[in-house]
Amino acid sequence: MGQINVEQLGFALGAQVTGIDLRQPLNDLSRKEILDAWHRHLVLVFPDQDLDANQQIAFSRNFGELERNDFQPHYRDPDHPEILLVTNKHLNGKPSETRNTGRNWHSDLTYTNRPAKASLLLCKERPPVGGDTLFANLYLAYETLSKPMRAFVETLEAIHDVSLIKGLEKRDPQKVADLKRTNPPVAHAVVKVHPETGRKALLLGQRIRGFVGYTEEESAPILNFLNEHASSPEFVYRHRWSVNDLVMWDNRCLMHLALPDFDQTKTRHMIRTSILGELSGYYVKDGEEPEKESLMQAIASVS
Ligand code: SIN
Repeated sequence: MGQINVEQLGFALGAQVTGIDLRQPLNDLSRKEILDAWHRHLVLVFPDQDLDANQQIAFSRNFGELERNDFQPHYRDPDHPEILLVTNKHLNGKPSETRNTGRNWHSDLTYTNRPAKASLLLCKERPPVGGDTLFANLYLAYETLSKPMRAFVETLEAIHDVSLIKGLEKRDPQKVADLKRTNPPVAHAVVKVHPETGRKALLLGQRIRGFVGYTEEESAPILNFLNEHASSPEFVYRHRWSVNDLVMWDNRCLMHLALPDFDQTKTRHMIRTSILGELSGYYVKDGEEPEKESLMQAIASVS
């Protein structure tokens, strides 16, 4: 008999975990049960967890070293660098810069060379309707490709670019310039083996500007196809938040999208911790990808 109760929420992914108070230290058995359920369901929803920032940090530390948000220092909680405030509340008398966080498909921090392994998001306030989050299963996205397509995507490296975060133009230009300077484009393999489950998953999203070695025109249709395939409704779980839901997801086999489907005059206030993943990928210098024009020049010069 387990210590926690796990109830599946969606066919592709998602489970609710009850029977546990996350303010209390986790014993080894509960930790193992949570990890087993997480590997099976990819997104775990812990309802009714009224945690403060320190309690969320303490719970998150059970699963690894925490990201201190040095890649995005302007958006973290000044008192807790491990906490990213995803909020539309006014901060210091101004609309929060993170009010539009997550508005295109992504996995957290893939624009760095150490994408987050896990993220834990706690809902402190929510609008009366909407403000949902979508999660897409990237194992299924890989496994349902045809055999030749799987072989093809195994050869691809995608260039993840922080400037493709949707809504950056609505943020303070100085802070955005800092974000871009500290996060040059980084290439990651499109197919990754999950280090704990051994299953292969795609690493995709809408913050990819193309594939290493391919022109923009070549990359765009491939990327569009892969993102559309991966976000097919049958691979997606939609989470409708309740206050004090803590949701823990695995960025190594999921991408997610925060919907702007709510009245923006109503508060949506979330606090996020992220667990550091493995070092991966390499920085790509601007101009390293071939442009159609330069390829034409090269062909002209040899013909
Ligand atoms: C995020 O992209 O990490 C934020 C998700 C959300 O606010 O629902």
